[in-house]
Amino acid sequence: MGDLVTFSVIKADVGGWVGHSSTHERLLDAARNRLAEAQADGTLVDFHVTRCGDDIFLIMTHRRGDNDERVHHIAWEAFEAATEEAKALKLYGAGQDLLADAFSGNIRGMGPGVAEMTFEERRSETIIVFMADKTSAGAWNLPLFKMFADPFNTAGLVISPALHDGFRFEVLDVRENKLITLSTPEEMYDLLMFIGAPSRFTVRAVYNKRGEIGAVSSTQRLALIAGRYVGKDDPVCIVRAQSQFPAVGEVLEPFALPFTVEGWMRGSHHGPLMPVALHEANPSRFDGPPRVCALGFQLADGRLVGPRDLFDDPAFDEARRQANVIAEYLRRHGPFEPHRLPMEEMEYTTMPQVMERLADRWEVVEEEQTTQPVVSEEAVDD
Ligand code: F6R
Ligand code: MG
Ligand code: MG
Repeated sequence: MGDLVTFSVIKADVGGWVGHSSTHERLLDAARNRLAEAQADGTLVDFHVTRCGDDIFLIMTHRRGDNDERVHHIAWEAFEAATEEAKALKLYGAGQDLLADAFSGNIRGMGPGVAEMTFEERRSETIIVFMADKTSAGAWNLPLFKMFADPFNTAGLVISPALHDGFRFEVLDVRENKLITLSTPEEMYDLLMFIGAPSRFTVRAVYNKRGEIGAVSSTQRLALIAGRYVGKDDPVCIVRAQSQFPAVGEVLEPFALPFTVEGWMRGSHHGPLMPVALHEANPSRFDGPPRVCALGFQLADGRLVGPRDLFDDPAFDEARRQANVIAEYLRRHGPFEPHRLPMEEMEYTTMPQVMERLADRWEVVEEEQTTQPVVSEEAVDD
């Protein structure tokens, strides 16, 4: 067995330039300097610091396994250094995702989003990092399902003996903190029953039936950690491609549909997820619409050969055009659902504070409100 490599992506919004639309280069440089030290002292094999919208993504390779305290601490320090720059420039929301005053062992639960996987590097290891802004963790449910379980998306599921056995999906119930593993194609309908509700159930990881990890995503729900509205969670997802996993084109294909996600303005709206090149990942219209970037790497003994900016391809122009059409259609709904999120999701925004002000103004209505069906069951049977 060869050496194991850990691929860690840790991300946070520690200050927006301008508003929540993008990231200032000085923040990225500050984070790079900290990671360069960690590479020089041998903790990291390699790293790449980048951004999508107002979020900074630290892409790191090392030999220390998932949830390593030293790697998490370095990431925390990189975000602290970037926060210092954000404060100096008085950028918007400086330090917003660093929910704790000091690092305490594991960065999970402290604000930043984390996706990590440890595996034996293949003869040729192809990896794609998806980074999103103005949306939240469940946004990967639909594309991960399509990549690893939908034969209309992934030809390899039908054609290739290496994929034909299917995959296992680890699904997290983010409200109750419970996990279930479901196998496809056998349990496809059971899987869809849950992951079709992405605000409650998120795909945390995907494995093939030999137990090899194919994908992992960040599942943090900041509001649940902080107990108050702190923006959306702008998630990250790592996918291994080619050979026993879907091909690069099969991994990217789900994003040809600008499917609907929650997020956008004030984390309170549904909107299309627009696949863009890095230079277009600066959401501005109504603070959006939500964006997704895809960076591809080859690994060479843990070193990152890349990135290639995979949505920088005119083949995704039509998805971007459709996203703009959908965005325009939804925007015309203004404050009405389904553009605005349903009430149970608005619980985690600032709206309840405004509703509270009117709490005394509601009068109880005396007339009996019927909760019974208008037509009796007997009548229906007849
Ligand atoms: C959404 C987001 C923005 C802000 C909006 C208001 O994730 O970050 O849409 O919610 O710009 O920001 P505040 O309340 O900070 O003025
Ligand atoms: Mg922000
Ligand atoms: Mg963001």
